[in-house]
Amino acid sequence: MSAIKPISHRGPGGGPAVDGVLPIAPKPRLRRFHQASWDEPIIFELSVPGSRGILPPATEPGISAVVGNPAAELPEGIRRSTPAALPELSQLHVLRHYERLSQENLGVDFNIDVGQGTCTMKYSPKVNDQLIRNARLADTHPAQDPSTVQGTLEIFWRLEQMLAEISGMDRVSLQPASGSAAIWANVAMIRAWHESRGEGLSAPADRRRDEVITTIFSHPSNAAAAKVAGYRVITLYPDADGYPDIEGLKAAVGPRTAALLITNPEDTGIFNPRIEEFVRIVQEAGGLCSYDQANANGILGITRARDAGFDLCHFNIHKTFSTPHACGGPGAGAVGVAPHLVPFLPAPTVERLPDGTFGFDADRPLSIGKVRPWYGVTPNLVRAYVWTMSMGAEGLREVAEIAVLNNNYLMKKVLEIRGVSAPYAAGHWRIEQVRYSWDELGRETGVHSEDIGTRAADFGTHYWMSHHPYVVPEPMTLEPTESYSMADLDEYAAILAEVAREAYEEPDVVLTAPHRSTIHRIDHAPLDDPAKWAVTWRAYRRKHFGGA
Ligand SMILES: Cc1ncc(COP(=O)(O)O)c(C=O)c1O
Repeated sequence: MSAIKPISHRGPGGGPAVDGVLPIAPKPRLRRFHQASWDEPIIFELSVPGSRGILPPATEPGISAVVGNPAAELPEGIRRSTPAALPELSQLHVLRHYERLSQENLGVDFNIDVGQGTCTMKYSPKVNDQLIRNARLADTHPAQDPSTVQGTLEIFWRLEQMLAEISGMDRVSLQPASGSAAIWANVAMIRAWHESRGEGLSAPADRRRDEVITTIFSHPSNAAAAKVAGYRVITLYPDADGYPDIEGLKAAVGPRTAALLITNPEDTGIFNPRIEEFVRIVQEAGGLCSYDQANANGILGITRARDAGFDLCHFNIHKTFSTPHACGGPGAGAVGVAPHLVPFLPAPTVERLPDGTFGFDADRPLSIGKVRPWYGVTPNLVRAYVWTMSMGAEGLREVAEIAVLNNNYLMKKVLEIRGVSAPYAAGHWRIEQVRYSWDELGRETGVHSEDIGTRAADFGTHYWMSHHPYVVPEPMTLEPTESYSMADLDEYAAILAEVAREAYEEPDVVLTAPHRSTIHRIDHAPLDDPAKWAVTWRAYRRKHFGGA
């Protein structure tokens, strides 16, 4: 007989002891979450004239006028005539204000944030935040001479090399400020490339390439960037199997085709198995192919844009490479290109010079120029560099494998819930996210996807559903990434199952949710009415209460 005693522990929910069985996946307990409500005014309303958070040292007598009054150095025309009307508060009051607001939030550090499908809400390690606060990074200015920021430039250069390796592309630019800015940079390069060959938008009609093809489940920034650049946009819809329609592509390509802009896997989580054929068809017609790799989290180390034949690609650094997102911090994008497009990359590029130091090269006559001020979003690029280095090549592949496993585990659990489906590619696994549909539940109960996402907030999580146009009815897109545990996914699925049960048995509870949040239902109607909203507090006050 073994001397080792069997493990004994309480069963799920404090039930009877289960001897010898490890609690691998105990039945998730639904939280009795209740959000704080501080009735907190906005910071301008808290202002007490004369209060100060910090007192700058007074100018010492005898110091020159310039040091004593730096504003005197500014040209007359840009000096303020009155001080900026900033809120005046002590440090304690500022701290308390933001701590209170943070408790009225359902942010990424509080909840199981798998409901922001297509956003890849993976964990951004806090240690990397600490690193970028280092004064040698945080206190530098982008206008500094490159000789004084060699370390930062080296990080840019090395991150570029890694992204080139990950995508198979020849060169990468980290200049774009976001995924959409990166898409824009790629469209601008496509436009410049055709222009340089006499087939651009300014060419005679019989040589002009003025059409861009995309797909309905590619991110809408692809169509938007093409339109803004002056192209006619042709959008392909899925075929009966849910894949972008290849017959539609064949019908659309021709001498007017400038490019294919395609996200893969698409925002449905479906990987296009004929992607190389898509690329070949477009390139044979003389078009370029640009790969939106913002959804790369499930394919890192597995497939590469260049290996599929693409001419250009982009990454969302703030998604795949573990840095905060736009609303929670600045985004960052990266574009990669094959050799023939290197001269068109945004200028300046970061170069390793023959003497081993690093510098900028702005002397690039064919470049599309700048796509943002300065070069790149430094804090996020440094975070991404550290994260990628800490993963290593094998770690990146593991990230992709776990992200895919998590997604398909969650899909299996979600599809057990009454009223939900995963349209398209029935019976196939997905890559890193799934766009589900609550259409059946909606038709049977009158409860909509938005109601379910809102009711989920009563259990301490939520999902968003801004997936216009609603090609998938009553959509819900979940993307669990590699960061969430099995218990997290079980809990998330259990919340959805509970809300679906309520929808069938007591729909009013869902339709009137949230019940335990700081703010009750948000009335979206005023957001569509420019007469009601304003972009700043002061503009809002002027609009609604008059005065300055
Ligand atoms: C596939 C895809 N492409 C492009 C973008 C646009 O990126 P951004 O929001 O940084 O502009 C996103 C946004 O998440 C995306 O999911």
